[in-house]
Amino acid sequence: MANDTLARPACAADDWTVPQEWDRYGADEHAMWDRLFERQARLLPGRVAPAFIDGLDVLRLSKPGIPDFAELNARLMDATGWQVVAVPGLVPDDVFFDHLANRRFVAGRFIRKPDQIDYLEEPDIFHDVFGHVPLLANPVFADYMAAYGRGGQRAAGLGAIERLARLYWYTVEFGLMRGPEGLQIYGAGIVSSFSETLFALDDPSPNRIGFDLKRLMRTNYRIDDFQQSYFVIDSFEDLLRQTIETDFAPLYAELHGTPDLAVDAIEPDDRIYHRGTQHYARSRPSQTGNPHHEP
Ligand code: PHE
Ligand code: FE
Repeated sequence: MANDTLARPACAADDWTVPQEWDRYGADEHAMWDRLFERQARLLPGRVAPAFIDGLDVLRLSKPGIPDFAELNARLMDATGWQVVAVPGLVPDDVFFDHLANRRFVAGRFIRKPDQIDYLEEPDIFHDVFGHVPLLANPVFADYMAAYGRGGQRAAGLGAIERLARLYWYTVEFGLMRGPEGLQIYGAGIVSSFSETLFALDDPSPNRIGFDLKRLMRTNYRIDDFQQSYFVIDSFEDLLRQTIETDFAPLYAELHGTPDLAVDAIEPDDRIYHRGTQHYARSRPSQTGNPHHEP
């Protein structure tokens, strides 16, 4: 997660990292991890992209308790050359992109409290590690994330971070993939959430639309509730190819000043997997799309 108006806490290094201090987790915190892990591990098979389950296995994430980054990193480094580093909270965009470009994934080290089991304002270690890290063991997805970091550095120079953030949001956080027998989830914001796993796949409310880079970079997203639209990729290979082979600079220029699309918009050229009823969103008090948030 990144932001651009932050002051670095005194406890953090120049690159904003802090030691995980694994020895300081209490039994209650390890138990919280186990509880969240077991619930998702039961729900995900058949619903998540198989590469995610492969990542859990390769990284031995099913071991009880909050993972020790030192141990996790040894396996992750072997798999794809990635590392997980702890940070105190949100970090500035340039710091976030620099870590990604250098194959370091920044993760929170705290775990949610029992009253926050299903809703969190800020990502915790369960979201960051369980949600994001398994796919970093997949060589293709690992390359996509590093390329995204370099793309972020470039977007910063072009004044287009908000645009690129939408790509992160609708893939890395809330992406769906076409599987042999229907849709699968892979976005970390979905796979780390029991309720959004069910909602993203099964609920008639949200739109499910084929991935289209330009379309997606015009689309707002919401940070306060389940998504109103999800975008469906064909495969990680296809996602990597399309994003690496496209020069984003002309795209940013072309889109500059064009109006944003609403979170629930359907466009004439959309490849529609499912046209959402938006029943859920309409039943909720706040319906604001938020155009000013970075992942
Ligand atoms: N190709 C993009 C650019 O020209 C960089 C990028 C790659 C962005 C992969 C995201 C993911 O800026
Ligand atoms: Fe995340």
